[in-house]
Amino acid sequence: MTEAYKIVDHTYDVIVVGAGGAGLRATFGMAVKGLKTACITKVFPTRSHTVAAQGGISAALGNMSEDDWRWHFYDTVKGADWLGDQDAIEFMCREAVPAVIELEHYGVPFSRTEEGKIYQRPFGGMTTEYGEGPPAQRTAAAADRTGHAILHTLYQQSLKHEAEFFVEYFAIDLIMDDEGVCRGVMAWNLDDGTLHRFRARMVVLATGGYGRAYFSCTGAHTQTGDGNGMVLRAGLPMQDMEFIQFHPTGIYGAGCLITEGVRGEGGYLTNSEGEKFMERYAPHAKDLASRDVVSRSMTIEMNEGRGVGPNKDYVHLHIEHLSPEIINERLPGIAETARIFAGVDVTKEPIPVLPTVHYNMGGVPTNIHGEAILPRDGNPDAVIPGLMAIGEAACVSVHGANRLGSNSLLDIVVFGRAAADRCVALIDPNSNQPELPKGAGENSIARLDSRRHAKGGTSVAALRGEMQTTMQAHCAVFRTHDVMAEGQKKMTALWAKMDDMGVTDRSMVWNSDLMEALELDNMMLQAVVSLDGALNREESRGGHAREDFPDRDDETWMKHTLAWIDENGKTRIDYRPVHGNTLTDDVKAVPPKERVY
Ligand code: FUM
Repeated sequence: MTEAYKIVDHTYDVIVVGAGGAGLRATFGMAVKGLKTACITKVFPTRSHTVAAQGGISAALGNMSEDDWRWHFYDTVKGADWLGDQDAIEFMCREAVPAVIELEHYGVPFSRTEEGKIYQRPFGGMTTEYGEGPPAQRTAAAADRTGHAILHTLYQQSLKHEAEFFVEYFAIDLIMDDEGVCRGVMAWNLDDGTLHRFRARMVVLATGGYGRAYFSCTGAHTQTGDGNGMVLRAGLPMQDMEFIQFHPTGIYGAGCLITEGVRGEGGYLTNSEGEKFMERYAPHAKDLASRDVVSRSMTIEMNEGRGVGPNKDYVHLHIEHLSPEIINERLPGIAETARIFAGVDVTKEPIPVLPTVHYNMGGVPTNIHGEAILPRDGNPDAVIPGLMAIGEAACVSVHGANRLGSNSLLDIVVFGRAAADRCVALIDPNSNQPELPKGAGENSIARLDSRRHAKGGTSVAALRGEMQTTMQAHCAVFRTHDVMAEGQKKMTALWAKMDDMGVTDRSMVWNSDLMEALELDNMMLQAVVSLDGALNREESRGGHAREDFPDRDDETWMKHTLAWIDENGKTRIDYRPVHGNTLTDDVKAVPPKERVY
């Protein structure tokens, strides 16, 4: 029987879950307009994973040479391999320019050009003249610590606007009513062990991706996709979860990110023969081709025996030819990271790198206002009342099958602001809210209680390790039916083994064993739908490369995957159409064509 837990009740207009860039931008955007808003976060806001973003934020400011947001739009549609919704991409690329200027005015310490303008560097897949011109210098940077600079600035803005924070609170589950309306969220205060029931007109999930479902990823250990887990448990679908981005340059062994900005500043990759192999795979863009293209090329080099090292399982990234002044001014962070995690002095030696899990293109399906959507009554985009998602937790879908580097920091500020604007338009501040359904939150507490008292023989760490190595081996850069089907079998066995979980700490205060068990619950759901979605999609597109189906198949597969999962770990798959139309006549939709760089 579930132990009796005391619950502390709260009522807000809006609850934002997560305090990375998206969550903070949404939180203070609502607070400043008088909505009673609280932000729940499992880590202190400035420890959120946005802090680790390095290379920059894209916007066609045109500070270095001519640029146009329509060219940015074209590049993003092509980068997404025609799985992105073109109306949403138009919205993001157009809004990029005012969004970055707004950040500047908020106080983000961007690097500067000689004339004092925001410094912008080239990034993969960013071009001019609708792909016909030279590479664009479109990625606005604060050295190689852009996420750090943005996150701290947004937190300062949140403090200025007196947003309320519940720090080190772990969100457990959504509260849904019988009509399918989201009415709030349950959370556990890690610091004193109390349980909290937050009632709100709107819950905004800004909980980030689930990179930690893999063994090696550039993401923080906290990146467990808790919001996505809550949504799946509530019986709602995820979209396009099979699209997982491998960043070409994670440090061999440690997995730490070495920014694409390195290649933007003139860095290049070589194989064991010292060959600049990207010239063969992407003759035009070379090392600045789109990430999926570079990661696949590196993997082919290693698979064909031209990897570096005794096991031929990494390649070299060079910046020794850059002047120490440039490295010091524009890439100080990666010089330090390479020294600490690879023992490399970047002014003298190359960095050993390999493709490493970096970003989830999939997530909660939303419209451009951040509202969660679900096909219903013939409407593929029907809104789920009371629920929003933004940032990496969401799939708007602006990144489609492959995100371009530096479009992620952009996504979080554009859609964080859009969600705030929507809440301000929809919600009458402090208006009376209906009572919550009877027994709201009880199921969540029962789940927490059963994990807390789990007495099985397998530790959370062992189960998590098995999931991570299975995903790493069976849902990787290149995929085949047989490899994924084998992975599926392993995940089914692991799902059953979750019943043998053992948690040793029974307390409620700073019980990291229990928190990791709840995080594992969230990751398992996402790992299963990702693998099942990948097995189901019989084509190659963006980050999803099937060796047994090497071509993109627009006829059959230009559609979003929707995946639900039941309590037995069984996935159900359906689809939503891709929006091939733009939002306005200011830019033309880009019809699908061959994607070459
Ligand atoms: O390479 C990087 O700096 C990462 C940027 C991104 O993922 O957008």
